[in-house]
Amino acid sequence: MTMGIMVGVANIIWQQTFGRYDDPLLARVKDLEKKFVERMAHPAVVLLEFVPSIRHLDGVMGNHIQKFLDVNNGLLANSKTSVTYSSTQYNEDEESESFADSFMREMRRRDAKGEEPGTFTHTQLVGACYDLWSAGFETTVTTLRFMFHYMINHPDAQRKVQKEIDEHVGKRSVQMEDQKSLHCCNAVIQEVQRLANIVTMNLTRMVNTPMKIDGYDIPVGTRVIPEFNIVHMDEKEYERPDFFFAERHVNEVGEFMRDPRITPFSLGKRSCLGEGLARMEFFSISPHLFNILPSLPSLKSLPLSTHRFASLDLQHRMRC
Ligand code: HEM
Repeated sequence: MTMGIMVGVANIIWQQTFGRYDDPLLARVKDLEKKFVERMAHPAVVLLEFVPSIRHLDGVMGNHIQKFLDVNNGLLANSKTSVTYSSTQYNEDEESESFADSFMREMRRRDAKGEEPGTFTHTQLVGACYDLWSAGFETTVTTLRFMFHYMINHPDAQRKVQKEIDEHVGKRSVQMEDQKSLHCCNAVIQEVQRLANIVTMNLTRMVNTPMKIDGYDIPVGTRVIPEFNIVHMDEKEYERPDFFFAERHVNEVGEFMRDPRITPFSLGKRSCLGEGLARMEFFSISPHLFNILPSLPSLKSLPLSTHRFASLDLQHRMRC
Protein backbone atom coordinates (compact mmCIF):
# COMPACT_ATOMS: atom_id res chain seq x y z
CA MET A 1 0.00 0.00 0.00
CA THR A 2 2.74 2.46 0.98
CA MET A 3 4.55 1.82 -2.29
CA GLY A 4 1.35 2.48 -4.25
CA ILE A 5 0.83 5.80 -2.46
CA MET A 6 4.49 6.74 -2.97
CA VAL A 7 4.37 5.98 -6.68
CA GLY A 8 1.15 8.00 -7.15
CA VAL A 9 2.44 11.04 -5.24
CA ALA A 10 5.91 10.86 -6.83
CA ASN A 11 4.38 10.79 -10.32
CA ILE A 12 2.29 13.88 -9.58
CA ILE A 13 5.23 15.94 -8.26
CA TRP A 14 7.49 14.70 -11.02
CA GLN A 15 4.94 15.74 -13.62
CA GLN A 16 4.61 19.20 -12.05
CA THR A 17 8.35 19.72 -11.62
CA PHE A 18 9.93 18.18 -14.70
CA GLY A 19 7.03 17.21 -16.95
CA ARG A 20 8.79 14.27 -18.55
CA TYR A 21 9.43 10.91 -16.98
CA ASP A 22 12.76 9.25 -16.53
CA ASP A 23 11.98 6.14 -14.51
CA PRO A 24 15.45 5.30 -13.12
CA LEU A 25 15.83 8.89 -11.86
CA LEU A 26 12.37 8.88 -10.34
CA ALA A 27 13.04 5.59 -8.55
CA ARG A 28 16.31 6.93 -7.15
CA VAL A 29 14.65 10.09 -5.84
CA LYS A 30 11.92 8.10 -4.08
CA ASP A 31 14.54 5.99 -2.35
CA LEU A 32 16.61 9.01 -1.31
CA GLU A 33 13.53 10.88 -0.05
CA LYS A 34 12.71 8.07 2.35
CA LYS A 35 16.25 8.06 3.73
CA PHE A 36 16.22 11.88 3.83
CA VAL A 37 13.31 12.01 6.29
CA GLU A 38 14.66 9.20 8.45
CA ARG A 39 18.07 10.86 8.73
CA MET A 40 16.67 14.35 9.16
CA ALA A 41 14.76 13.12 12.22
CA HIS A 42 17.92 11.96 13.97
CA PRO A 43 18.40 13.93 17.25
CA ALA A 44 21.88 15.08 16.19
CA VAL A 45 20.52 16.57 12.96
CA VAL A 46 17.58 18.23 14.72
CA LEU A 47 19.89 19.70 17.38
CA LEU A 48 22.08 21.20 14.67
CA GLU A 49 19.37 23.80 14.06
CA PHE A 50 19.68 25.09 17.64
CA VAL A 51 23.32 24.28 18.47
CA PRO A 52 25.32 24.58 15.21
CA SER A 53 28.62 23.80 17.00
CA ILE A 54 27.37 20.24 17.56
CA ARG A 55 28.69 19.47 14.05
CA HIS A 56 32.23 19.35 15.50
CA LEU A 57 31.19 16.34 17.59
CA ASP A 58 29.60 14.49 14.68
CA GLY A 59 32.51 12.03 14.36
CA VAL A 60 32.23 10.86 17.96
CA MET A 61 28.43 10.72 17.78
CA GLY A 62 28.25 8.34 14.83
CA ASN A 63 28.46 10.72 11.82
CA HIS A 64 24.69 11.19 11.66
CA ILE A 65 25.01 14.76 10.38
CA GLN A 66 27.37 13.59 7.63
CA LYS A 67 25.01 10.73 6.70
CA PHE A 68 22.18 13.24 6.40
CA LEU A 69 24.36 15.53 4.25
CA ASP A 70 25.23 12.59 1.99
CA VAL A 71 21.55 11.92 1.26
CA ASN A 72 20.94 15.64 0.83
CA ASN A 73 23.79 15.87 -1.67
CA GLY A 74 22.40 12.81 -3.47
CA LEU A 75 19.03 14.57 -3.83
CA LEU A 76 20.70 17.74 -5.10
CA ALA A 77 22.73 15.71 -7.61
CA ASN A 78 19.53 14.06 -8.78
CA SER A 79 17.83 17.40 -9.16
CA LYS A 80 20.79 18.55 -11.28
CA THR A 81 20.60 15.45 -13.50
CA SER A 82 16.84 15.83 -13.89
CA VAL A 83 17.19 19.50 -14.86
CA THR A 84 19.86 18.56 -17.41
CA TYR A 85 17.59 15.83 -18.80
CA SER A 86 14.67 18.27 -19.00
CA SER A 87 16.78 20.88 -20.77
CA THR A 88 17.81 18.37 -23.45
CA GLN A 89 14.11 17.60 -24.07
CA TYR A 90 13.00 21.22 -23.90
CA ASN A 91 11.37 22.54 -27.04
CA GLU A 92 10.99 26.29 -27.42
CA ASP A 93 7.93 25.93 -29.65
CA GLU A 94 5.92 23.71 -27.32
CA GLU A 95 3.85 25.04 -24.47
CA SER A 96 5.51 24.73 -21.03
CA GLU A 97 4.71 21.37 -19.53
CA SER A 98 6.23 21.86 -16.12
CA PHE A 99 7.83 24.17 -13.60
CA ALA A 100 11.31 23.45 -15.03
CA ASP A 101 10.14 24.24 -18.59
CA SER A 102 8.59 27.56 -17.55
CA PHE A 103 11.70 28.48 -15.60
CA MET A 104 13.96 27.65 -18.57
CA ARG A 105 11.74 29.63 -20.91
CA GLU A 106 12.17 32.72 -18.72
CA MET A 107 15.95 32.12 -18.44
CA ARG A 108 16.25 31.99 -22.23
CA ARG A 109 13.96 34.98 -22.75
CA ARG A 110 16.10 37.13 -20.45
CA ASP A 111 19.25 35.86 -22.10
CA ALA A 112 17.93 36.57 -25.63
CA LYS A 113 17.00 40.14 -24.65
CA GLY A 114 20.33 40.74 -22.92
CA GLU A 115 18.54 41.26 -19.58
CA GLU A 116 20.08 40.50 -16.18
CA PRO A 117 19.25 36.88 -15.19
CA GLY A 118 18.36 37.91 -11.61
CA THR A 119 17.25 34.75 -9.82
CA PHE A 120 16.64 32.90 -13.09
CA THR A 121 19.85 30.91 -12.99
CA HIS A 122 20.64 27.23 -13.39
CA THR A 123 21.61 26.96 -9.69
CA GLN A 124 18.27 28.46 -8.62
CA LEU A 125 16.39 26.08 -10.89
CA VAL A 126 18.16 23.04 -9.42
CA GLY A 127 17.51 24.35 -5.89
CA ALA A 128 13.84 25.10 -6.55
CA CYS A 129 13.21 21.64 -8.04
CA TYR A 130 14.94 20.12 -5.03
CA ASP A 131 12.74 22.24 -2.70
CA LEU A 132 9.52 21.12 -4.38
CA TRP A 133 10.54 17.50 -3.99
CA SER A 134 11.84 17.62 -0.47
CA ALA A 135 8.85 19.63 0.77
CA GLY A 136 6.12 17.94 -1.21
CA PHE A 137 6.78 14.22 -1.37
CA GLU A 138 7.11 12.72 2.08
CA THR A 139 4.59 15.15 3.63
CA THR A 140 1.84 14.10 1.22
CA VAL A 141 2.68 10.40 1.38
CA THR A 142 2.71 10.41 5.20
CA THR A 143 -0.64 12.22 5.43
CA LEU A 144 -2.25 9.75 3.02
CA ARG A 145 -0.86 6.86 5.03
CA PHE A 146 -2.34 8.35 8.19
CA MET A 147 -5.65 8.71 6.37
CA PHE A 148 -5.60 5.06 5.47
CA HIS A 149 -4.59 4.14 8.98
CA TYR A 150 -7.41 6.08 10.64
CA MET A 151 -9.96 4.65 8.22
CA ILE A 152 -8.88 1.09 9.03
CA ASN A 153 -9.23 1.83 12.72
CA HIS A 154 -12.57 3.61 12.35
CA PRO A 155 -14.85 1.45 10.20
CA ASP A 156 -17.91 3.62 11.03
CA ALA A 157 -16.29 6.68 9.48
CA GLN A 158 -15.10 4.51 6.60
CA ARG A 159 -18.62 3.29 5.86
CA LYS A 160 -20.04 6.83 5.92
CA VAL A 161 -17.43 8.02 3.43
CA GLN A 162 -18.00 5.04 1.16
CA LYS A 163 -21.79 5.56 1.24
CA GLU A 164 -21.30 9.21 0.33
CA ILE A 165 -18.97 8.33 -2.57
CA ASP A 166 -21.43 5.69 -3.83
CA GLU A 167 -24.31 8.18 -3.74
CA HIS A 168 -22.57 11.19 -5.28
CA VAL A 169 -19.88 9.71 -7.50
CA GLY A 170 -20.89 6.15 -8.28
CA LYS A 171 -18.56 4.20 -10.55
CA ARG A 172 -16.87 7.12 -12.31
CA SER A 173 -13.64 8.74 -11.09
CA VAL A 174 -13.79 11.47 -8.48
CA GLN A 175 -13.43 15.00 -9.86
CA MET A 176 -12.56 18.20 -8.06
CA GLU A 177 -16.14 19.50 -8.53
CA ASP A 178 -17.30 16.61 -6.32
CA GLN A 179 -15.61 18.32 -3.39
CA LYS A 180 -18.72 20.47 -2.89
CA SER A 181 -20.90 17.44 -2.26
CA LEU A 182 -18.49 15.07 -0.46
CA HIS A 183 -18.89 16.53 3.03
CA CYS A 184 -17.85 13.39 4.97
CA CYS A 185 -14.79 12.97 2.82
CA ASN A 186 -13.69 16.57 3.49
CA ALA A 187 -14.37 16.11 7.20
CA VAL A 188 -12.20 12.98 7.30
CA ILE A 189 -9.34 14.74 5.51
CA GLN A 190 -9.51 17.67 7.95
CA GLU A 191 -9.68 15.40 10.99
CA VAL A 192 -6.69 13.39 9.75
CA GLN A 193 -4.68 16.57 9.26
CA ARG A 194 -5.64 17.77 12.76
CA LEU A 195 -4.53 14.54 14.40
CA ALA A 196 -1.62 13.46 12.23
CA ASN A 197 0.30 16.70 12.81
CA ILE A 198 3.00 15.59 10.46
CA VAL A 199 4.99 18.82 10.82
CA THR A 200 4.75 18.85 14.58
CA MET A 201 7.18 21.74 14.98
CA ASN A 202 7.34 24.34 12.24
CA LEU A 203 10.48 26.01 10.94
CA THR A 204 12.24 28.52 13.20
CA ARG A 205 11.10 32.14 13.11
CA MET A 206 12.71 35.27 14.60
CA VAL A 207 10.65 37.92 16.41
CA ASN A 208 11.01 41.34 14.71
CA THR A 209 8.67 43.36 16.94
CA PRO A 210 8.68 43.20 20.76
CA MET A 211 5.63 41.28 21.96
CA LYS A 212 3.97 39.88 25.07
CA ILE A 213 2.39 36.45 25.10
CA ASP A 214 0.71 35.02 28.22
CA GLY A 215 2.49 37.61 30.35
CA TYR A 216 5.95 36.78 28.93
CA ASP A 217 7.96 39.50 27.18
CA ILE A 218 9.37 38.21 23.89
CA PRO A 219 12.18 40.56 22.79
CA VAL A 220 13.23 41.24 19.19
CA GLY A 221 15.66 38.59 17.93
CA THR A 222 14.13 35.71 19.93
CA ARG A 223 13.93 32.50 17.92
CA VAL A 224 10.51 30.89 18.14
CA ILE A 225 9.16 27.63 16.79
CA PRO A 226 5.41 27.51 16.21
CA GLU A 227 3.80 24.20 17.16
CA PHE A 228 0.51 23.60 15.40
CA ASN A 229 -0.41 20.61 17.50
CA ILE A 230 -0.72 22.77 20.63
CA VAL A 231 -3.92 24.12 19.08
CA HIS A 232 -4.90 20.91 17.25
CA MET A 233 -4.78 18.94 20.50
CA ASP A 234 -6.06 21.64 22.88
CA GLU A 235 -8.87 20.39 25.13
CA LYS A 236 -10.24 23.93 25.35
CA GLU A 237 -10.66 23.95 21.57
CA TYR A 238 -11.76 20.35 20.90
CA GLU A 239 -13.71 17.88 22.96
CA ARG A 240 -11.59 14.72 23.34
CA PRO A 241 -8.89 16.10 20.99
CA ASP A 242 -7.00 12.81 21.04
CA PHE A 243 -9.98 11.01 19.54
CA PHE A 244 -10.61 10.61 15.81
CA PHE A 245 -14.06 12.06 15.26
CA ALA A 246 -14.65 13.43 11.74
CA GLU A 247 -18.23 14.46 12.62
CA ARG A 248 -16.86 17.41 14.56
CA HIS A 249 -16.24 19.04 11.17
CA VAL A 250 -19.82 18.91 9.87
CA ASN A 251 -22.73 21.12 10.92
CA GLU A 252 -26.21 20.02 11.98
CA VAL A 253 -27.32 19.61 8.35
CA GLY A 254 -24.30 17.49 7.52
CA GLU A 255 -22.29 20.12 5.64
CA PHE A 256 -18.52 20.29 5.95
CA MET A 257 -17.10 23.24 7.93
CA ARG A 258 -13.55 24.37 7.17
CA ASP A 259 -11.80 24.93 10.53
CA PRO A 260 -9.32 27.87 10.59
CA ARG A 261 -7.72 26.52 13.80
CA ILE A 262 -6.33 23.55 11.87
CA THR A 263 -3.17 24.80 10.18
CA PRO A 264 -1.03 21.88 8.97
CA PHE A 265 0.30 24.07 6.15
CA SER A 266 1.22 26.90 8.53
CA LEU A 267 0.06 30.50 8.22
CA GLY A 268 1.25 33.80 6.78
CA LYS A 269 3.50 34.78 3.90
CA ARG A 270 5.77 31.76 4.18
CA SER A 271 3.02 29.20 4.56
CA CYS A 272 3.25 26.06 2.43
CA LEU A 273 3.63 26.79 -1.27
CA GLY A 274 2.16 23.41 -2.15
CA GLU A 275 -1.01 23.63 -0.02
CA GLY A 276 -3.31 23.79 -3.06
CA LEU A 277 -1.58 20.86 -4.74
CA ALA A 278 -1.55 18.78 -1.54
CA ARG A 279 -5.26 19.41 -0.90
CA MET A 280 -6.01 18.42 -4.48
CA GLU A 281 -3.97 15.24 -4.07
CA PHE A 282 -5.77 14.30 -0.84
CA PHE A 283 -9.11 14.85 -2.43
CA SER A 284 -8.37 13.00 -5.64
CA ILE A 285 -6.48 10.06 -4.08
CA SER A 286 -8.29 9.41 -0.78
CA PRO A 287 -11.72 8.40 -2.19
CA HIS A 288 -9.95 5.68 -4.17
CA LEU A 289 -8.21 4.49 -1.01
CA PHE A 290 -11.46 4.54 0.95
CA ASN A 291 -13.20 2.54 -1.73
CA ILE A 292 -10.73 -0.32 -1.71
CA LEU A 293 -10.76 -0.74 2.06
CA PRO A 294 -13.52 -3.37 2.40
CA SER A 295 -11.45 -5.83 0.43
CA LEU A 296 -8.65 -5.65 3.00
CA PRO A 297 -8.35 -8.02 5.94
CA SER A 298 -9.21 -6.45 9.29
CA LEU A 299 -6.16 -4.59 10.56
CA LYS A 300 -7.94 -3.03 13.48
CA SER A 301 -5.30 -4.20 15.89
CA LEU A 302 -2.67 -1.90 14.36
CA PRO A 303 -1.58 0.64 16.94
CA LEU A 304 -2.06 4.28 16.07
CA SER A 305 1.32 5.77 15.35
CA THR A 306 2.18 8.54 17.75
CA HIS A 307 5.89 8.03 17.44
CA ARG A 308 7.34 11.40 16.65
CA PHE A 309 10.59 13.16 17.03
CA ALA A 310 10.88 16.96 16.75
CA SER A 311 9.23 18.18 13.58
CA LEU A 312 8.74 14.80 12.00
CA ASP A 313 6.47 11.90 12.34
CA LEU A 314 8.46 8.76 11.80
CA GLN A 315 6.17 7.20 9.25
CA HIS A 316 8.24 4.04 8.84
CA ARG A 317 6.90 2.95 12.25
CA MET A 318 3.50 2.48 10.66
CA ARG A 319 3.02 -0.68 8.71
CA CYS A 320 0.30 -0.18 6.14
C1 HEM B 1 0.59 17.15 3.59
C2 HEM B 1 1.22 17.94 2.77
C3 HEM B 1 2.04 19.12 3.20
C4 HEM B 1 2.18 19.69 4.44
C5 HEM B 1 1.53 19.27 5.76
C6 HEM B 1 3.09 20.81 4.29
C7 HEM B 1 3.46 21.65 5.32
C8 HEM B 1 4.34 22.70 5.16
C9 HEM B 1 4.76 23.56 6.23
C10 HEM B 1 4.28 23.48 7.68
C11 HEM B 1 5.63 24.45 5.71
C12 HEM B 1 6.38 25.54 6.47
C13 HEM B 1 5.65 26.84 6.37
C14 HEM B 1 6.29 27.88 7.23
O1 HEM B 1 7.52 28.03 7.18
O2 HEM B 1 5.56 28.55 7.99
C15 HEM B 1 5.78 24.16 4.30
C16 HEM B 1 6.58 24.86 3.43
C17 HEM B 1 6.72 24.56 2.10
N1 HEM B 1 6.04 23.58 1.40
FE1 HEM B 1 4.69 22.29 2.15
N2 HEM B 1 3.48 20.88 2.98
C18 HEM B 1 2.86 19.87 2.27
C19 HEM B 1 2.94 19.61 0.92
C20 HEM B 1 3.69 20.35 0.03
C21 HEM B 1 3.72 20.12 -1.41
C22 HEM B 1 2.90 19.06 -2.15
C23 HEM B 1 4.62 21.00 -1.93
C24 HEM B 1 5.06 21.24 -3.35
C25 HEM B 1 5.09 20.36 -4.29
C26 HEM B 1 5.14 21.80 -0.81
C27 HEM B 1 6.06 22.82 -0.94
C28 HEM B 1 6.48 23.62 0.09
C29 HEM B 1 7.48 24.67 -0.06
C30 HEM B 1 8.23 25.02 -1.35
C31 HEM B 1 7.62 25.27 1.20
C32 HEM B 1 8.52 26.43 1.58
C33 HEM B 1 7.72 27.72 1.44
C34 HEM B 1 8.51 28.96 1.82
O3 HEM B 1 9.45 28.86 2.61
O4 HEM B 1 8.15 30.05 1.37
N3 HEM B 1 4.54 21.36 0.34
N4 HEM B 1 4.97 23.07 3.98
